[in-house]
Amino acid sequence: MGELKSPPRQLAAKATNSDYQMCGIVAYIGLKEAYPIVIKGLHRLEYRGYDSAGIALQNGQLNVYKKKGKVSDLEEFTQDKNVSGSAGMGHTRWATHGKPDDTNAHPHISGNQRLVLIHNGIIENYAVLKSALQKHGHDFVSETDTEVLVHLIEEVQQRENLHLEEAVRQALTQVHGAYAIVVMDRNDPDKLVAARKSSPLVLGIGKDEFLIASDATPIVEHTKKVVYLNDEEVATVTRDGRMTIKTLRNEIMTPTIQEIELEIEQLEKGGYDFFMLKEIFEQPATIAECMRGRMNAEKGWVRLGGMEEYKKRMINAQRMIILGCGTSWHAGMIAEYLFEDLARIPVEVEYASEFRYRNPVVRDQDIVLAISQSGETADTLAALELARERGAITYGIGNVVGSSIARMTHSGSYIHVGPEIGVASTKAFTGQVTMLTVMALLLGYERGFLPKSQYQKLVQELSLIPGKVDRLLENCHEQVKYIAGEFKDATNALYLGRGYNFPVALEGALKLKEISYIHAEGYPAAEMKHGPIALIDENMPVFVIATNPSAYDKIMSNIQEVKARKGVVVAVVTEGDQSIKKLADYTIEIPATEEPLTPLLSVVPLQLLAYHIALLRGCNVDQPRNLAKSVTVE
Ligand code: G6P
Repeated sequence: MGELKSPPRQLAAKATNSDYQMCGIVAYIGLKEAYPIVIKGLHRLEYRGYDSAGIALQNGQLNVYKKKGKVSDLEEFTQDKNVSGSAGMGHTRWATHGKPDDTNAHPHISGNQRLVLIHNGIIENYAVLKSALQKHGHDFVSETDTEVLVHLIEEVQQRENLHLEEAVRQALTQVHGAYAIVVMDRNDPDKLVAARKSSPLVLGIGKDEFLIASDATPIVEHTKKVVYLNDEEVATVTRDGRMTIKTLRNEIMTPTIQEIELEIEQLEKGGYDFFMLKEIFEQPATIAECMRGRMNAEKGWVRLGGMEEYKKRMINAQRMIILGCGTSWHAGMIAEYLFEDLARIPVEVEYASEFRYRNPVVRDQDIVLAISQSGETADTLAALELARERGAITYGIGNVVGSSIARMTHSGSYIHVGPEIGVASTKAFTGQVTMLTVMALLLGYERGFLPKSQYQKLVQELSLIPGKVDRLLENCHEQVKYIAGEFKDATNALYLGRGYNFPVALEGALKLKEISYIHAEGYPAAEMKHGPIALIDENMPVFVIATNPSAYDKIMSNIQEVKARKGVVVAVVTEGDQSIKKLADYTIEIPATEEPLTPLLSVVPLQLLAYHIALLRGCNVDQPRNLAKSVTVE
C-alpha cells in the first residue's frame, strides 16, 4: 500500500452520484459447503450494519432464511434448518427502505420463487418500476426497493426467456440508483451473477471457488487474488471456474486481478474480548506504522509521497478546508490547531454534511482535506465532490485501501493502521492525528514558519510517541478500570479541554456516549461557565484534560470552578504534576511531550475509560445500538 493515487476521472464523478445504502453482502460458489463461509463472512461485514441478516443456499432447491437482529440471531434461527449447499449468499442490513424485520431482510425472492437477490444500495426509481411490475401481476411482500429489483429481473428473464446474466444486465439498464448485487437462479445452480454501481463489490478468485463481497474481509482467508468490479459491470462466476465480466452496454471486459495485502490475523480479536480493546492496545504499533517511511527522527525530517505532486499548491495554499464526520471530524479539529500553529495556514473545519448543503465559498487556491477512516462516508464523499467541482485541490486521509474517497481525491495518504472493526474509532483517530501532524510539520517547515530547530525537535518527539503510548497504556489501565467502576452509573458527564485538547474533550465525550449510552458533552473548558456549569452537582463526573502547559493556570481555575459546585473531577495530567493532583478527585497521568503532540496521548485513557464503563454496563462495545462503522447514507 502506498500513497493514494489520483483517481480516474470517471470513477471520481460516479462515486457520489447517489447516497448509497449500507449493508454487507457476501456470496460463495465452489466445492465446499457455503453456509459456514457465508456466515463467517457476514460476521466480518457486520460493521456495515446489523439490524437484520439473511442467507440463501442452493442445493437443487433454494433455501432462504432471514431474521431481524444480528448475524448471531440468524445462526441461532438456522440451527435446526437445512443449510446444505455449495453455493450461497448472505446479507447483513442497516435499514433505509422499510423497517428492520424478517420480511424486509435480504435475500429477496422473485415471484416465481426462482431467483434470489441480495443488494447494497438504493434503487431510486423503485416506485415507478414497482407500479409497472404490479400492472404485470407482480405482488410484493416487503417494503424494500430490493424486492422490486428481483421482480424486475424475473420479468425481463421470463419475457425474453433469457439466461440469468443477460436478464440481470438488461434489467439493470432500467435502474437508477446505486447497487451492489448478487443473484442466484434455482434453474441455473452452478452460477452466481453480480453487478455494481456506486456500491463496492470485490470478487475473490480461489482454487475451485469464487467469493463475492462488499469488501475483501470475508475473502482474505480463502484467497488473496481479487478483482474490484467497476461501476456498471456485471460479473458471472461458475462452479467450473469461469469468470466473465461485461458492461451494462454488453462489452466484454478483461478483469484486472490484484493481490490483497490484508492478513487474516488483522481481522481476529487476538485474545482480547472486544475489537475495541484490541485496537486501543494496538496504538503503539499503528502510530509507528503510520510514520514508517515518512520520517527520520535522527536526521530530523518528515516526507509524504502523497504530497509530492501537489506540494507547491499546498505550500502556497491560501486556506485549508477540512471535511469529516464523527471522530474524523475531531481529528480535523486538532488539525486546525496544528496547521494554524505550526504552518500558519488558515483552516476551516467543516462537518461534511453541513458543507455540502450550504453553498460554500471554495476557491482554486484552497486545499480541501477529507478525513475518513472508511473512505466511504456518504456526506464526506458528496462534500468532496462539491469541492472538486469548485476547483479546489482535494486530498484524502484514509485507512481503507482503494476506498471511494481514495479514488476520487487528487491525492492523499493512507494512515496504515489496519482494519478497524470496533464501531467506535480509536486507532484510526490516532493514525489520522499522526498523519495530520506530519503534514503540519512538513508544511510549517516548507513555508518557513517553523524554524529548523523546532521542526527537528518536534519530529524527534513525534518519533517517541509510540513508546509513550505503550508506557501510558501499561501504567494507566488498572487505574482507568477503577475510575470506570466509580462512574459506571452516571447519567451525564462533561469533558473539558483547552487548545489542542479541546477536540480531545469532544472525542472523549463521543466515545462515552456512543458505546455506554451515557449522555456526555465535550466543551472548551472556559465555555463551561456559559451553560454546562448549571448542570454540575455531586453526581456529575467532569473529565478535564489538563496537560497543556500554555493553559495550565486557566485550567486550574476551571477545575476550581467545578469543585466549588461540588463536581467530581477526573483530571488527565502530565506525569509529575503536583498542583492539579491536589485539586482533582482522581488523576490519570500521561507522559510529557510537546504540546502539539499531547492529543495523541491524552485521548488514550479516555478511550479506555469509555470502554470499561460500557463493559461494566453490559453494553456490546463493538456494535453499539443504532450505529454503524461505515455510514454510507446521508
Ligand atoms: C461513523 C462511525 C464513526 C466514524 C464516522 C466517520 O459514525 O461510527 O466511528 O468516526 O462514521 O467515518 P469515517 O469512515 O468517514 O471516518
